[in-house]
Amino acid sequence: MKFILEASPVIKLDAACLVIGAFDDAPLQGSAQLIDDASGGALQKLIDSSDVDTSWKCATMLHGMQGVAAKRILVMGCGEPKKFDEVRYDAVCTSAGAFLRDHATTTAHICLHEMDRDTVKKPASEGSQNGPGDTHWRLRQAAVNVDRANYCYTTTKKRKKDDNEPLASVSFNANEDMQAALDEARGLARGYLRSTELGNLPPNICTPAYLADIAHEIEDKYDNVSLDILEQDEMARLKMSALLAVGRGSVNRPRLIVLKYQGKDESSQPVVLVGKGITFDTGGISLKPGTNMEQMKFDMGGAASVIGAFEACADLQLPINLICVIAAAENMPDGNAYRPGDVLTSMSGKTIEVINTDAEGRLVLCDALTFSQRFEPVSIIDVATLTGACVIALGHHASAVMSKHDDLADELLDAGQSAVDRGWRLPLWDDYQPQLKSEFADMKNVGGMAAGSITAACFLSRFAEDQRWAHIDCAGSTWIWGGDKGSTGRPVGLLTQYLINQAG
Ligand code: BES
Ligand code: MN
Ligand code: ZN
Repeated sequence: MKFILEASPVIKLDAACLVIGAFDDAPLQGSAQLIDDASGGALQKLIDSSDVDTSWKCATMLHGMQGVAAKRILVMGCGEPKKFDEVRYDAVCTSAGAFLRDHATTTAHICLHEMDRDTVKKPASEGSQNGPGDTHWRLRQAAVNVDRANYCYTTTKKRKKDDNEPLASVSFNANEDMQAALDEARGLARGYLRSTELGNLPPNICTPAYLADIAHEIEDKYDNVSLDILEQDEMARLKMSALLAVGRGSVNRPRLIVLKYQGKDESSQPVVLVGKGITFDTGGISLKPGTNMEQMKFDMGGAASVIGAFEACADLQLPINLICVIAAAENMPDGNAYRPGDVLTSMSGKTIEVINTDAEGRLVLCDALTFSQRFEPVSIIDVATLTGACVIALGHHASAVMSKHDDLADELLDAGQSAVDRGWRLPLWDDYQPQLKSEFADMKNVGGMAAGSITAACFLSRFAEDQRWAHIDCAGSTWIWGGDKGSTGRPVGLLTQYLINQAG
């Protein structure tokens, strides 16, 4: 989708559709006020008579408004000003994007970023230039959300005749000085699109080799991106027996994909993002039940979001160094598969008793974490659909953030807040560590019923000692189950915002 800045007077603009917002019981803002004036108060009358509903997320399409050149006007209800926070604003933009799509609109002129609750609540805010809630932020979020709302999976199916075309381009009612906001939006949108599409692709297409192909594609596109792909022999040389064990039951051989982006001089320490890339998780010999198993294609959601954030970073040419390490494998039962009872010697030298082959994510990640230390990173963040327990704890609204480093955890939570791709912290106290005690190895790969997400992170922590490391469990946030099932692309927003903040 193309994002354009267009600051010409909104009533004279010959747009297919103008998109404005309106609060409950408050004076109209910016462009909405101009439209009301031009139409002799028609807009306010429609609101007063309840023909236009200003309740939060309510959408009303108006046609042929007097005094306005645009053919249609979409009025998005923003609800009560005092409740209008970042999350509510974000949802209004998403609803607008979905409504435009449902109503066969292929271009639109958007004024939603004018919805500043502060001008209603209190006199003009003197807040920071780029923090949440200012015009830059609102513009960026509007563009990203309208773009995401127009995503439609079509790769392996024909579009139905009556399916509407997605929006092809949107303009925003703002001056050139807002170009940086749209640039950021373009990067974020690209990252989200990549991650969402990879998450939705079927597991017979999106294999470890396919993820490696995508990495090649990204490498080819940017001069300052390089790529190493480690295949089985190389991983065996490095003694990555845990990762290799998980991949052994599948004919789709595992890969360790290492994407490097250089946006700063070589001596500058990189951020390392590590992604769980299980392209299908059957559970292995500890086979999962059949119901909903098809959805386990999303078990590479962590890898997808890491790749998406990498692409966003490269698109924005952020002045940082970034390395992405993707542990890609397929967890299948097979005569050659690893089994419960096996003791694996990880790359770190620590031994692991396999209790359950369905706790495979931590096994591929532990070797990827050990490997990542060679880059002497400023921070290592792994992202993984690691536990069902995370979905039980936080549902689909938040990613779980776990770290022993309070400052790093706070940076990630803050980034999630500003990207409206939120995380929530769970403790990573050593109190939980004894649950991993094994009679036959240095540790076992499961910690029992209690605190499943935390014990999974405790397991990983043993492979990130002395590192500034955080773990993000995105099992709930990256994928929505049930009726509207599909990939969300998350947590690309959180990760990309973190990288943007690192760039300063
Ligand atoms: N990929 C799953 C985690 C998962 C399960 C995410 C359901 C979303 C929904 C992971 O590999 C897994 O199977 N974890 C097990 C761990 C258990 C065996 C300790 C789980 O959560 O059940
Ligand atoms: Mn599993
Ligand atoms: Zn898994």
